[in-house]
Amino acid sequence: MSKYAVLGQPYKIRNVEIKNRFTVIPMTMGSLSYDEEGGFSDNLIHYFELRAKGGFGLIIPGAAATDYHVDPYSALGPNVNTNRHWQERAKVLVDTVHKYGTKIFCQLTMGLGRNYPGLPGPSENPVWRTPDQVSPAMTKEQIRQKIADMIEGAVVAKECGYDGVEIHAMHWGYLLDQMAMAFYNRREDEYGGSLENRLRCAREIVEGIHEKCGRDFPVGMRLGLKTYIKDYDKATLTGEEEVGRTLEEGVEISRLLESYGYDFLDADTGTYDSFYYACPPMYNPQGFMIPLAAKAKEVVNIPIIAGGRMQDYDLALEAVEKGEIDAIGLGRPSLADPDYPNKVISGEVEKIRPCIGCNMGCFRRCVETGEPVSCAVNPQAARELVIGLKPGEGDKKVVVVGGGVAGMEAARTAALRGYRVTLFEKSDHLGGHIVEAGAHAFKREIRRLNEWYQRELRDLGVDIKLEHEPCINCIRKQEADAVILATGTDEAHPPIPGLEKALPSLEAIDHPEKIGSKVIIAGGGLVGCEIALDEAKKGKDVTVVEALDDIMAAGGASAPYPNKQMITDLFAHYGVRVYTSTRLSEVTDEGAIVEKADGSKEALAADTVISALGFRPAPNLKEEWAQLNLPMYEIGDATGAGTIMKAIWDAYEVANSI
Ligand SMILES: Cc1cc2nc3c(=O)[nH]c(=O)nc-3n(C[C@H](O)[C@H](O)[C@H](O)COP(=O)(O)O)c2cc1C
Ligand code: SF4
Repeated sequence: MSKYAVLGQPYKIRNVEIKNRFTVIPMTMGSLSYDEEGGFSDNLIHYFELRAKGGFGLIIPGAAATDYHVDPYSALGPNVNTNRHWQERAKVLVDTVHKYGTKIFCQLTMGLGRNYPGLPGPSENPVWRTPDQVSPAMTKEQIRQKIADMIEGAVVAKECGYDGVEIHAMHWGYLLDQMAMAFYNRREDEYGGSLENRLRCAREIVEGIHEKCGRDFPVGMRLGLKTYIKDYDKATLTGEEEVGRTLEEGVEISRLLESYGYDFLDADTGTYDSFYYACPPMYNPQGFMIPLAAKAKEVVNIPIIAGGRMQDYDLALEAVEKGEIDAIGLGRPSLADPDYPNKVISGEVEKIRPCIGCNMGCFRRCVETGEPVSCAVNPQAARELVIGLKPGEGDKKVVVVGGGVAGMEAARTAALRGYRVTLFEKSDHLGGHIVEAGAHAFKREIRRLNEWYQRELRDLGVDIKLEHEPCINCIRKQEADAVILATGTDEAHPPIPGLEKALPSLEAIDHPEKIGSKVIIAGGGLVGCEIALDEAKKGKDVTVVEALDDIMAAGGASAPYPNKQMITDLFAHYGVRVYTSTRLSEVTDEGAIVEKADGSKEALAADTVISALGFRPAPNLKEEWAQLNLPMYEIGDATGAGTIMKAIWDAYEVANSI
């Protein structure tokens, strides 16, 4: 029996037995979730079926709208109460996951409040990141109507066969959260003022549901135990300048919610204003919220599911064994690997494809670009029926050149399709630039991803030829049916006087001992910023110089908001100086000369100047090899430097279409 078997043991929410400690916590998935009439699509039902098959004991799909009176046109898709087709398809979803012994709760939302334009809240507040727009205050009648719609939604959910409901949400700063916090709720009626008044909505909702659905139908609350906000749109990194919900208040709220009749808490942290706590990127440590959940657990008897960077199964095991939490909530890790629970319970943890906390395929697509949610490291996620793995077309031989992440994904996908695959890599190891990308202490999951790929390739029998740069004859001898060039990038060395005195970024990562105590980093893209953070955390004096008007914006696309917000706050915390709209004009023996947007120049002193000025596709032999008359594909960075997501998605698409 594996040491993680404890996580495979059942627990109870009210009278509902959940077969193990793994929960898919809610994620709104976007357009591919629905069919034309607003019912769950086959794609979404299949997505959850895979997670049920993968061992999740409880699934809570993303928030469903209930209000059809006050703000019915919220951003959250079809309405549970009015859309009969949604109800029919919900029954299909429920029956599908039940086949695997998995329970399913329906998350019902009261609304989004000031988080989205045009929606009302408890009091007038500026709309999130849109300070020139105001979210108006609701009337008492509107509040009561919304509560009634929530109760009606629970009745519908029960009729559809759901095993329980979760109330959305006193988390992420949504409407019910705004109602509960004095910072947003300055009402003078019985829905404002004291904590009990601010929780009145939550209380009336649960009491109404018990009355209509019976006391055995479980009702839980999505609850942020601490909000980490210091103002509208501003987070407090350390939590010390809290103006929202302190942990003490979060604990008291937990106690009150239990006394009102809530049967479980689905706990996390943060709001839209502090997105790096709500949807924590890789810079926030795994398991950071366990101590917070443990505090709430001290005062309640109902189960607590803890979510948000809970992918570390050792931390989770310890927390469950100590009784600090009852179950683990996995949002993004369930996108990255549908079989996460089965792999943990059986002890095959090294087979887990890790979520890398990049927020590129999930958060960014959901909140920033409006595209269907998926995953950087699992291109099929939530699109399994749309771009699933195709069976191979006969016995084919595929040659992949380059063993970085794109090459490894291409080799894996081709091998999974049943093709014979040879992978050539010129260095003595696999991973390419993800070796450097994973070198920082806060990038452990990237190292795990690299290990995962290598293991997969071994298990799939891919023929790996290290220290091998193939010539045209080598390729000919392979008798390949297709060649995939994943030859990656080299560092860019623009013609800047004295640049040879600078330490190239990859060398700086591989040899941090070469970096002095006063550092200038030229280039404020992801690579430069992460080196800056690592060095600043060691107590170094760090300056970042970026030619664009913002950091982490290279390639024309800003990094996902939580990641960018966190780096910015970490820089402020560790005293990293940032010069934007400023170019490196010369590297000198004393440091660097930089040129500002107005043309003025400034000499900055440093022991070390690190050049992190981007990457260019490495030269490859595509043109020479064209004479082989073989289908040849360039993927990943070979077509232009990009993210891990671009590399993996390119590779999957190409290798799945050969
Ligand atoms: C794309 C996306 C959509 C989400 N939608 C919801 C939602 O509908 N309801 C909710 O309570 N939380 C939602 N969340 C928050 C997640 O449930 C979870 O708290 C967050 O992803 C952090 O946990 P994780 O590290 O396990 O992913 C969403 C998160 C993401 C990334
Ligand atoms: S896109 Fe990145 S953060 Fe989102 S689930 Fe995938 S690996 Fe995790």
